[in-house]
Amino acid sequence: MQYYFAPLEGVTGSEFRRAHHRWFPGVDAYYMPFLSPTQDHVFTQRELRNVLPEHNQGFRAVPQLLTKNADDFLWCAGELAAMGYDEVNLNLGCPSGTVVAKGKGSGLLGAPEALDRMLDRIFSGSPVAVSLKTRLGLEDPEEFARLLEIFGRYPVSLLIVHPRVRKGFYRHPVRVEYFEQAVDAYHGPLCFNGGLVTAEDCARFARRFPQVDRVMIGQGLLADPALVQKAKGGPGAGREALRAFHDELYHTYLEIFASQRNTVFHMKELWSYLGRLFQGAEKPLKQIRKAADSPAYEAAVAQIFALPLRQDACWEGQ
Ligand SMILES: Cc1cc2nc3c(=O)[nH]c(=O)nc-3n(C[C@H](O)[C@H](O)[C@H](O)COP(=O)(O)O)c2cc1C
Repeated sequence: MQYYFAPLEGVTGSEFRRAHHRWFPGVDAYYMPFLSPTQDHVFTQRELRNVLPEHNQGFRAVPQLLTKNADDFLWCAGELAAMGYDEVNLNLGCPSGTVVAKGKGSGLLGAPEALDRMLDRIFSGSPVAVSLKTRLGLEDPEEFARLLEIFGRYPVSLLIVHPRVRKGFYRHPVRVEYFEQAVDAYHGPLCFNGGLVTAEDCARFARRFPQVDRVMIGQGLLADPALVQKAKGGPGAGREALRAFHDELYHTYLEIFASQRNTVFHMKELWSYLGRLFQGAEKPLKQIRKAADSPAYEAAVAQIFALPLRQDACWEGQ
């Protein structure tokens, strides 16, 4: 089984990927949070920090694009090919209101004819392999059969299926029974994404779908950075590696943002997941949520790292 790290905008930027790979190697590819190419055809500094190959050395990283414009996609894919990337992923899943209102992300799924025309242009012109990350549909999972038919017409290098519709955001249960449709009806390379949070979840998936050899994990890997190592039969996260991973990320953010406030803000999102791996972390987690500068933050983090680690991250009450 190949294990891919899902793109998580605002969390898994290049600093995160480097620190994660150093302390918890074993992920087969990191899919990057989306870039939104505009008609100006220039990268922002923030985008370059995410995507430049020198910031992504030693592991496989795949850039993702969020656009409904084939010309902008092809411009960006050309730039990424020139940087040495051999795959670009198209985001057909983002559920955000503003993104969908502009017809991008999962908004594209609601206009299958336009999607088909866009894919036709992308696949005729792209200098690199194109993979797709999709939901089941915009409104209704019954849209999925038609979408699979469209995807099946193109040389998609990998179809990553997150089996929810747009309104499921990331909360509603994943509809694994619809993934079965893809396994039956779609004949290209396929990857499952959604709700895998323990090594046992991964093993159960592999038993149910022996013909699928790739899964993508997002939030489960934030909560337990060693999840892929465990799924591959290795040990769980040790306290030292977790601390080293945390410290590298924290100090890198302090340097980049030159702001305790911004750094702490970024670390809070990570702790909303990582806190699940520690027993009895409610009190220090509350302090982290309240922290606005480094001294308050560091004091709360020291308390968390003194707590016992769980075998698996705890997702109860979700
Ligand atoms: C904070 C956050 C940011 C996300 N950013 C992206 C993104 O940039 N591109 C994308 O395709 N999906 C994005 N996703 C969706 C995830 O990649 C993934 O599909 C989703 O979390 C379900 O997988 P999981 O249950 O393993 O986390 C994001 C999800 C979250 C929670």
